[in-house]
Amino acid sequence: MNARVEVAPQVGLDQPLITCIDLGHVHDSGRGRTTALGNISLTIDHAEFVCVLGPSGCGKTTLFNILAGFVVPSHGDIQVNGRAIEGPSAERGVVFQDYSLFPWLTAQANIEFGLRMAGQAARERAEIARDLLRLVGLPEAGAKYPFELSRGMKQRIAIARPLATRPSLLLMDEPFAALDAMTRSSLQAKLIDIHRQEQPTILFVTHNIAEALFLASRLIVMSPNPGKIVEDIKVDLPRPRRRTSPRFNELYEHLERAIGLETAE
Ligand SMILES: Nc1ncnc2c1ncn2[C@@H]1O[C@H](COP(=O)(O)OP(=O)(O)OP(=O)(O)O)[C@@H](O)[C@H]1O
Ligand SMILES: [Mg+2]
Repeated sequence: MNARVEVAPQVGLDQPLITCIDLGHVHDSGRGRTTALGNISLTIDHAEFVCVLGPSGCGKTTLFNILAGFVVPSHGDIQVNGRAIEGPSAERGVVFQDYSLFPWLTAQANIEFGLRMAGQAARERAEIARDLLRLVGLPEAGAKYPFELSRGMKQRIAIARPLATRPSLLLMDEPFAALDAMTRSSLQAKLIDIHRQEQPTILFVTHNIAEALFLASRLIVMSPNPGKIVEDIKVDLPRPRRRTSPRFNELYEHLERAIGLETAE
């Protein structure tokens, strides 16, 4: 892969990438207050692949939005790369469930967007976009517009786009939830490849236990009212992971109980 623009200096790799201390958030919609996150304390190291699992309403998206810089937390302290979050940044790439590409730009121009904003020269931008199109398995799709791409193809472009600026952190909120099972498992495999090659830190929100066990090096389970962390597990399964392995099933059942018990409260 080519040298890309460095959007932010990194703190030492021996320091955690993310540090949250007593982080909390209350949504005040004007029609009532909801404590979406209680007091969350957490550190995440460089190159970890963290999946966040939990029932609907446990605050996963709220945590995602705080990390992305879209929501300012009501209280607590959160730092990425040793600095407080002051808004969205190319240092933290985001991928949503609904791909959210710019419909008026080609796939290549979508991928180049952040680089254009950062002032990268056209020839270098094009080279980086070509590399990323290859990385996500769509080397021929650069000139196509989003309306010409299938859902799975759009989501591949949506994953490639933030990677262009080499984010320290890739934030993904249920990015594969709207996809069919086959496309979903091929994109899971692609994401594992990307993580192995590029080593970004990934925070991946999902409802799907099998998906989390297939992807994560670490699993965080949350429960609602208020949103809090109830489990923080290192996933020790060797790769490539087999859904049929006894340890996979043991962890699956453990997580099902953790999430099920918490929802039943
Ligand atoms: N903008 C908002 N205004 C008011 N309340 C909100 C807002 N966003 C979220 N909430 C509330 O905060 C709580 C946490 O919501 P959040 O979207 O973070 O959950 P989630 O874990 O992402 O759920 P899901 O799995 O359904 O996506 C919920 O009770 C929700 O109703
Ligand atoms: Mg959500």
